[in-house]
Amino acid sequence: MLENKKIVLGITGGIAAYKAAELTRALIRAGAQVRVIMTNSAMEFITPLTMQTLSQGPVYTDMFAPTDQYDMAHIALADFVDVFVIAPATGNVIGKIASGIADDLLTTTVMAQNKPALICPAMNDKMLANPIVQNNIFKLKKMGYMVMDSGVGELACKTSGSGRLPEISKILQAVEFLLAPKDFSGERVLVTAGPTEEPLDPVRFITNRSSGKMGYAIARAAHQRGAKVTLISGPTKIPPPEADQIIYVRTALEMYRAVMEHYEKATVIIKAAAVADYRPKTEAREKIKKDRGIPGIELTRNPDIIAAISAKKRKGILVGFAMETQDLLANARQKLLKKNMDMIVANSLREKGAGFETDTNIITIIDRNGKTIALEKMTKIDAAHKILDHVKMLSKKKGLCVKP
Ligand code: CTP
Repeated sequence: MLENKKIVLGITGGIAAYKAAELTRALIRAGAQVRVIMTNSAMEFITPLTMQTLSQGPVYTDMFAPTDQYDMAHIALADFVDVFVIAPATGNVIGKIASGIADDLLTTTVMAQNKPALICPAMNDKMLANPIVQNNIFKLKKMGYMVMDSGVGELACKTSGSGRLPEISKILQAVEFLLAPKDFSGERVLVTAGPTEEPLDPVRFITNRSSGKMGYAIARAAHQRGAKVTLISGPTKIPPPEADQIIYVRTALEMYRAVMEHYEKATVIIKAAAVADYRPKTEAREKIKKDRGIPGIELTRNPDIIAAISAKKRKGILVGFAMETQDLLANARQKLLKKNMDMIVANSLREKGAGFETDTNIITIIDRNGKTIALEKMTKIDAAHKILDHVKMLSKKKGLCVKP
């Protein structure tokens, strides 16, 4: 999503300026091109040399400095940019932009550009709570700027409260949101993710291996593209994605009930969850003790959720997943037909860079029309967007409502 995207990063003078270095590294790592503008106050906290080294490009500090690349930096940077990010944004710069003041290179460039802009406030909690600052943030939001909520926690001024620079990962996700086409607006996407746990007794359970990362990436990508997203998630250890509704469940039966309650409203259903096919027939009320000998575990089948949906009259696109250790494509095609899906995403557990816990995946998309697309290794968020691209294509074929 960030590959080759052009980001202008404005840094202003707050203690969180040092985190702009980390943000720059993360943007570069994600494949973005970064140009940095620093205010005079920012240079009191972090040096242009640091930012130049990390951004692998020139750093702009002076409105009137001649450069060898651009004769009018504020215009050239405004033309260059896909997304403008100010991190950290002090109360001062927020006030200046909200009031139309352009008295340095950063504020002049902001005034000269008309691309999506992301403001990441970071300041003392009392400054942030000041009604003047709040009113300026409100004004910026009304004018179409995306202003992130500050993080809550320990602040540099030895207090604690709201005012920390948002987490770098959250800033990256906000940039992705601004870059994403809103071609799923009006769609309702239901995603299931993560494993289910089938309890044996109060301390033990049977589960499937799954981190939930792929399903969460799909929920995030759909949200970025303007869909209304309902995520039904089994137990995971990862932070939740942005979604309109998140329903946490534990067992396959709970997931089944939640899906049955919500699937009818969905125009796209993506079943990325690793549902346990079996559960212990009985759940012991007390912990099973060793001195009673080795227990035999009698299992019973869980409902097949995706098969249950496709057996009902449903609208929209149904997408399943197949994770296999052998005969990947043959098994996936068989599941696609057997469970009457529109499309299945196959991934092999045998390939390096695919599967559990990783941030990358290697997927093959197979659809009902016989089309098979094998994709190379990519991040899970990029794979999620590829899946949504194919959903969009199938919807258009089916005459459904995903926008062109
Ligand atoms: N699935 C489901 N309910 C189940 C089991 C699986 O909805 N009880 C869904 C999964 O979310 C996935 C698809 O069915 O989208 C395929 O799941 P998978 O576990 O690969 O296949 P199974 O049909 O369970 O077959 P097998 O375990 O024999 O490979």
